[in-house]
Amino acid sequence: MKFRELGLSKDLLTAVEKAGFTEATPIQSDTIPLILEGHDVLGQAQTGTGKTAAFSLPILDKIDLDDPNVQALVVSPTRELAIQTQREMNRFGRVEGAKVQAVYGGADIRQQIRNLKKHPQVVVGTPGRILDHINRRTLKLGNVKFLVLDEADDMLDMGFLDDIESIIKALPTERQTLLFSATMPDKIKRVGVQFMHQPKQVKIKAKELTTDLVDQFYVRSKEAEKFDLMTRFFDVQAPKVTIVFCRTKRRVDEVSRGLIACGYPAAGLHGDLTQKRRSQIMREFRDGKISILVATDVAARGIDVSGVTHVYNYDIPQDPESYVHRIGRTGRAGKHGVSLTFVEPNEKDYLREVEKLTKVRMLPLKPPSENEALSGQLSEVKNELGDLIQKTDMDKFSDTADELLEKYSAKELVSVLLSKMTRSQVKVRITPERPLPNKKRRFSHGRRYNGHGGGGRNNRNSNGGSRRYNGRNGGNRRNDRNHGRSDDRRNNSHRNSNGGGKSFTIKQRD
Ligand SMILES: Nc1ncnc2c1ncn2[C@@H]1O[C@H](COP(=O)(O)OP(=O)(O)OP(=O)(O)O)[C@@H](O)[C@H]1O
Ligand SMILES: [Mg+2]
Repeated sequence: MKFRELGLSKDLLTAVEKAGFTEATPIQSDTIPLILEGHDVLGQAQTGTGKTAAFSLPILDKIDLDDPNVQALVVSPTRELAIQTQREMNRFGRVEGAKVQAVYGGADIRQQIRNLKKHPQVVVGTPGRILDHINRRTLKLGNVKFLVLDEADDMLDMGFLDDIESIIKALPTERQTLLFSATMPDKIKRVGVQFMHQPKQVKIKAKELTTDLVDQFYVRSKEAEKFDLMTRFFDVQAPKVTIVFCRTKRRVDEVSRGLIACGYPAAGLHGDLTQKRRSQIMREFRDGKISILVATDVAARGIDVSGVTHVYNYDIPQDPESYVHRIGRTGRAGKHGVSLTFVEPNEKDYLREVEKLTKVRMLPLKPPSENEALSGQLSEVKNELGDLIQKTDMDKFSDTADELLEKYSAKELVSVLLSKMTRSQVKVRITPERPLPNKKRRFSHGRRYNGHGGGGRNNRNSNGGSRRYNGRNGGNRRNDRNHGRSDDRRNNSHRNSNGGGKSFTIKQRD
């Protein structure tokens, strides 16, 4: 459907045209008119199908530019997503002169306060920092007409729900509430509709939850082999722009360092880094300076980096929804992608659970041999050599080249060159992580299992019996976000007994 059929004003249509969008995506055609008509909307559509514009365009259309108050609040689960959404909304809003301000943790609050004083009509932020501004009275939300919970199922899950409820208390009851996500478990939807008024539900019908633009594979692998096998896949698949998801921060650090030691242009991203470093890494990844981003689930939701070709799940996610979002970083906006998930022998049930949710069977993939990996590297090197020959000033090296050719055979010299140009075989040791709890045991002996577990990752399931089933882990996320706020002693004691609590967390919040 064309954007001009959706009832948007001329300014917004110009902005859409400037963005290079020609046709509206299904979630956009279905939700934009509803939002413009004043309805609350619960929108569900696959990853990478333009949900951001689906809520941004009608909001920007309906805000009053002469009103100095904040009129729309968009809540995002991570700082990176808040920054990205601000950028996307600015792109559309600039044409009509709307101001969009982002507020998120780890960044200078005074600067944010100064920016909030400039009367933005739209504020995008992470829950912790939004609440901080509300409490400082530097963010007044009494005139908000639109509340958006992007990645709504995550925002309404246990880890965030208290914060969201507190934010909602600061909003007028008369408002439009818009919930968007690619996944929406029924249990969470029921929580969401409580904050809505006669919501219209738009669920873009798709056979599967994941987009068919992503070819999904899995590889059976033992813990100790994963690093080596992943690099072999890199050499054979030659991924251009890649995200590697790991379960813990320690993993991210070790895997990214290992990749760098082997000569891959990688960097690690997780919540223990300073915000400055996080932003720098995201910038370098977007600019192509880093081609492998190794990350925790902090990069799993919403992040839109154009042209991600591959997603590798170094560790299978514990929570099947997380899988959908992780692999959704590729195969966006009509482009094709590949995902590959490493599955340890005791993790088969997790694989099944993912497949049950996505309704897609992942195809097993045999890991390449060392020789195949080397051939992969060599074919890259051969292409590179052609380029280098074009670029090199041959005259400069001519005499030395002749000298060497007298002393050594051409074959010897080329072999040395090839050896130098292929990646060094550095032995990388990644600290083993305790395997995920066996699902069957968890169903029948869940409590006992967790009682014995003591390990950080397993603990994530110890936050209340009923949540263990789907592997979601709200309580611990809270802990992660708050760096062990002492209101959850159970978790803290586990973290301490484990001696390495920091590395067991998956999502970093404010
Ligand atoms: N109508 C359109 N035509 C072309 N490209 C579009 C259109 N709408 C959005 N896009 C582009 O598609 C990409 C994905 O959009 P967006 O990030 O909004 O997806 P999403 O549905 O929110 O995904 P996720 O579930 O991962 O958050 C972006 O780069 C965006 O600019
Ligand atoms: Mg999105």
